[in-house]
Parts: sequence; structure tokens; C-alpha cells
Amino acid sequence: MAMPDFQHSDDCCANTDILQMLKRKKEPVRVLFVCLGNICRSPAAEEIFRRIIESRGLAGRFEIDSAGLYAGHAGELPDRRMRLHAFQRGYNLTHHSRPVRERDFEDFDLILSMDDSNYSRLRAFAPTLEAEAKIRRTTDFCRHHPGIDHVPDPYYDGAEGFERVLDILEDACAGLADSLTPDAE
Ligand code: 4NP
Repeated sequence: MAMPDFQHSDDCCANTDILQMLKRKKEPVRVLFVCLGNICRSPAAEEIFRRIIESRGLAGRFEIDSAGLYAGHAGELPDRRMRLHAFQRGYNLTHHSRPVRERDFEDFDLILSMDDSNYSRLRAFAPTLEAEAKIRRTTDFCRHHPGIDHVPDPYYDGAEGFERVLDILEDACAGLADSLTPDAE
């Protein structure tokens, strides 16, 4: 896929460039959420973002998926606790876990990590600088969680950890949808 001509950088200008380009993209914008196991945070993010996009009548403008950096849960449905807490907010999580693959860096326009570990592992895995520039932190799009820089791994937490994940992801996904929607400018 043709990408805009810009150098890889962590600064906000590069961030703005790719988001502005994606806002104007004619073909569907392809978004991949990534966490460690792909059974808690990223499948929840995938469904929350999908629901926001559908509620705005923009389903045809996006292709949304999720994947994990650890392949040990490949093929599994999301963690039962994540499914339960999501269901209580009206989300039905049906994704089956799959590992991140090199082709994802070609197939997706934006790759959203949940925490610093995901972020640095994705950057190390990216085959090109162009691919690396597609990686963003999900929490960069939060507007109601000041200072937050990661979605905490809830795997070893109780119910409150899963609720916190959903709170953060609902905020981030709404911000992301606004960032990628032309008339939100
Ligand atoms: P996730 O949570 O990365 O949000 O899917 C985890 C799922 C499984 C494991 C760790 C985190 N695990 O160690 O198996």
C-alpha cells in the first residue's frame, strides 16, 4: 500500500500526518489493536471501536482486527472475565486470539499497542521504518484519563481491573474514532 512520504519520528507532527492522511483515505481504514495475549484488552478494544464506528454509520469505512504478541492463547475466545465485564456493557466479544504476523504491518494502516512492552516489541518487530510509523499507543487517544500512558494488563487482577480496562478503552476508542473521522475536524 502506498504510504505518505514522511520520516519516522516520535514527534506529534508525524502523528498528525498519518492521522490526517487516514482521515482522507478513500479505501477503508484498517486498524489493528495489539496486546500480549489477545484475550483481554485488544479484543475488547476491537469490539468497542467497532461499535462506535457502527453507531456513527461508518462501518464500511473501517476494517478492524486484533492480535497478540504471545501466541499461547491462539484460537481461544477472549478470557471469560473479559467477556463477562464487556457483556455487562453490551459488548459481545467473539474474536479468536491470533498472533501478530509480519504481514500485519502491510495489511493495516494503524497498529495500536496497549502498553510500553507491546509498543517496544511491535517497533522491534516492524520490518521497515514505514511500518514502524504505523504503531501508536491506544491511550494517546484518551481524553478523559489525564496522564494515562497504558492500558493495564488485567489478567492477574480482579473485577475492578477489567472495569478499568473498559473505561479506558471506551474513552480511547471514542477519541480514535474522532481522530479518523473527517467531519470531526
Ligand atoms: P491481554 O492479557 O494481553 O490483555 O490479552 C493477558 C492475557 C494472557 C496473559 C497475559 C495477559 N498470559 O500471561 O497468558
